Amino acid sequence: MERLDKILAEAGVASRRALKAVIRAGRVSVNGQVVRSPEAKADAAEDAITVDGIPIRRKRTVVLALHKPAGYVTSTEDPRDATVMELLPEAYRNLGIVPVGRLDKETEGLLLLTNDGALLHRLISPRHRVPKVYEAEHVGEADPADVAAFAAGLTLRDGETCLPAELTPLGPGRSRIILHEGKYHQVRRMMAARGMPVTYLLRVAEGPITLEGLPRGQCRELQGEELRRLTD
Ligand code: URA
Repeated sequence: MERLDKILAEAGVASRRALKAVIRAGRVSVNGQVVRSPEAKADAAEDAITVDGIPIRRKRTVVLALHKPAGYVTSTEDPRDATVMELLPEAYRNLGIVPVGRLDKETEGLLLLTNDGALLHRLISPRHRVPKVYEAEHVGEADPADVAAFAAGLTLRDGETCLPAELTPLGPGRSRIILHEGKYHQVRRMMAARGMPVTYLLRVAEGPITLEGLPRGQCRELQGEELRRLTD
């Protein structure tokens, strides 16, 4: 159950502020009953909701893949910095879409966004072990001892422990890292714990979704088979 004004805003009827007046004017009905309170709750998927007698569009579930550039914060609002939401086309702005987890301001690469609460929870929960693949440029060169330390579950400098992770050296100063969780600054802190501070970080995949073919700063809506593989 969600607030009626939120459901109507996400269906694209009007802004939440304008909707308060629309609802108070008695123009909105839920299952045939006029509702005059914007705080009233309804079920967007089940209830028959009309405005001026016209049924609203059902809430559309959207999953977006964004190629985040450096310099944008992963948040829906920020008093100082540009947010990843500013990179989304206008049509996606009022659907209640939020980022799935976060990338640091300076990290680039794949960021998923969705308005599907259950999917959001599944993708960020370490229990579901959704792999996140990163490519890092860093000081030094990873060796077999580093690979073993990642595989065993690294302890960070502050004593926090990580789930087993995969580290693959890609040559001097370059490594691929695969994590199944998303702690704050995790890749940077793991690499720092092994004496290899990160100078550039790119997320190239999350579960079955990859960054391939998606230009920096652009997003695309996941559909069909790709969406099924993510949600299965
Ligand atoms: N690990 C980091 O250190 N930063 C990110 O943005 C993502 C993973």
